[in-house]
Amino acid sequence: MPGAEAQRPQSNTPNGNAKNIRSFRLWEVQMELSGFFNTDCMEGMKQIPDKYFDLAIVDPPYGIGESGAKNKTRTGGLAKPKDYKAFHGDDLKPPDGEYFKELMRVSKNQIIWGSNHFISRIPYDSSCWIVWDKDNGETDFADCELAWSSFRTAVRQFRFKWQGMLQGNMKNKEYRIHPTQKPVALYKWLLKNYAKPGDKILDTHVGSASSLIACHDLGFEYLGFELDTDYYRMATERLEQHKSQLNMFIDLEEI
Ligand SMILES: C[S@@+](CC[C@H](N)C(=O)[O-])C[C@H]1O[C@@H](n2cnc3c(N)ncnc32)[C@H](O)[C@@H]1O
Repeated sequence: MPGAEAQRPQSNTPNGNAKNIRSFRLWEVQMELSGFFNTDCMEGMKQIPDKYFDLAIVDPPYGIGESGAKNKTRTGGLAKPKDYKAFHGDDLKPPDGEYFKELMRVSKNQIIWGSNHFISRIPYDSSCWIVWDKDNGETDFADCELAWSSFRTAVRQFRFKWQGMLQGNMKNKEYRIHPTQKPVALYKWLLKNYAKPGDKILDTHVGSASSLIACHDLGFEYLGFELDTDYYRMATERLEQHKSQLNMFIDLEEI
């Protein structure tokens, strides 16, 4: 990527020195600043220059035990809960303050889902909370999810049903692979409303790859991290399958 080239660490002596050479190699070998990596986001973010990403849209663990098993005990509605493997960390605790500091170092703007569960770790007020109304009916799932954002505009709401097999767009239903999967439609709405053409997007906790699919479809460059190896594999398959279906569709249109 051209931006990455321009900002590589440079050695500042004629022959360089060990520290600079080592960091140059780390940069070159371990991380490209686009794509999807099976990496701890804290490790990944260490390699990213300040304010490299225009927008981070993230959905870290909330610390409420929603990693999969809890769905089985839920009641109400028409949706039959599906069994999922628990994801990394079992959603037992949200990231610590270091994560939010690092996230704000590497990105110019942030949208952080679940912030109502860990707002004491985000040291800034926001006029622009984002509400996803899940149109959940009479179930004991939450009616809405909330995201803190760094934008200075007003509170906005997106309504999209997401209740088991009932989804906002029943003609084009999404296959669910992850216990806390968010709809691609939600990420597309966020990108259309909060990103500009050409923006680079970061997702530190990719889960099912809904965010990456939305970035791909709308033409945004992205970087994603997912630490859980099983979910990384399933999300990669979902993303690749989506891309190949789109290609097939384009090929057929051209015939
Ligand atoms: C709340 S889920 C994200 C769901 C996602 N927004 C979606 O639509 O599918 C959080 C994800 O972060 C992953 N995770 C937990 N700790 C992580 C870390 N330190 N680095 C990267 N991923 C992590 C978990 O395995 C889980 O899949």
